[in-house]
Amino acid sequence: MKVTVVGAGNVGATCADVLAYREIANEIILVDIKEGLAEGKALDIWQKSPINLYDSRTIGVTNDYSKTANSDVVVITSGLPRKPGMSRDDLIETNAGIVKSVTEQVIKYSPEATIIIVSNPLDVMTYQAHITSKMPRNKVMGMAGILDTARYRAFLAEALNVSPKDIQAVLMGGHGDTMVPLPRYTTVGGIPVTELIDKDKLDAIIERTKFGGGELVKLMGTSAWYAPGSAAAQMVEAIVRDQKRVFPVCVKLEGEYGIDDCYLGVPVILGKGGIEKVIELDLNAEEKALVENSRQHVKEVMAVLDKLN
Ligand code: LMR
Repeated sequence: MKVTVVGAGNVGATCADVLAYREIANEIILVDIKEGLAEGKALDIWQKSPINLYDSRTIGVTNDYSKTANSDVVVITSGLPRKPGMSRDDLIETNAGIVKSVTEQVIKYSPEATIIIVSNPLDVMTYQAHITSKMPRNKVMGMAGILDTARYRAFLAEALNVSPKDIQAVLMGGHGDTMVPLPRYTTVGGIPVTELIDKDKLDAIIERTKFGGGELVKLMGTSAWYAPGSAAAQMVEAIVRDQKRVFPVCVKLEGEYGIDDCYLGVPVILGKGGIEKVIELDLNAEEKALVENSRQHVKEVMAVLDKLN
């Protein structure tokens, strides 16, 4: 399997590293626009192989997309990260142009690839990649739900003093302050979370999750990379190993949840066909209203992109 990761910054390099040490793909191409950066990080990942015992090969290239030809999956992390005080949406003007030109290059050399977008603002950059690539919706998706649920699950694990492995959760909506963690679909070793934690504490965790990316931006002056890079690698794994994993993923909705023509995080089945199925939950009125609020926000940012294009 051949996987390309575009962008050798913190998120892209972390994703390539996870793909290599977990041997998710045997050939990993890391691309960056900055001379030598991808080559250097790829070499570093390769030099770690005798220590961590893997034989996946990572090759770095500077802007040479011919080396990415015939990739099975391409992860696009390119674009600026936000700085403290910025919202993800503030990145739209710069990142839309970058995601558009990267997608054109990717499709030119790998017309059959499944594309995973990581660049922000996530839902709208997935829209950008979808309209640029003209691929079917099952092959163009955004990584956010795995990251956002991971934050939610990690906070819950800490509060309950249990292993994060035992926390399962669903989260829907856009990758921003309007995201919708769903306590009714959150369990701890099969036990509904609401039986184990007070409402106040759970509400506080939900609020912290919504601003989880911003919390890290404030701490570090730039955005996160370990969890985002690992989350993208987990999506690649589900596709290349045809695992049929159930994850929240950003996809163009075409009538599901009564929503048309909007890119939003929803639970899906992820396998070698990309998004093989969108799972429709039976949401209650309150949950529906929260998802609708998120849809409206994403639609507004999609309209900004339409104007830019
Ligand atoms: C994240 O959630 O970590 C990313 O979307 C980056 C950011 O700006 O928060």
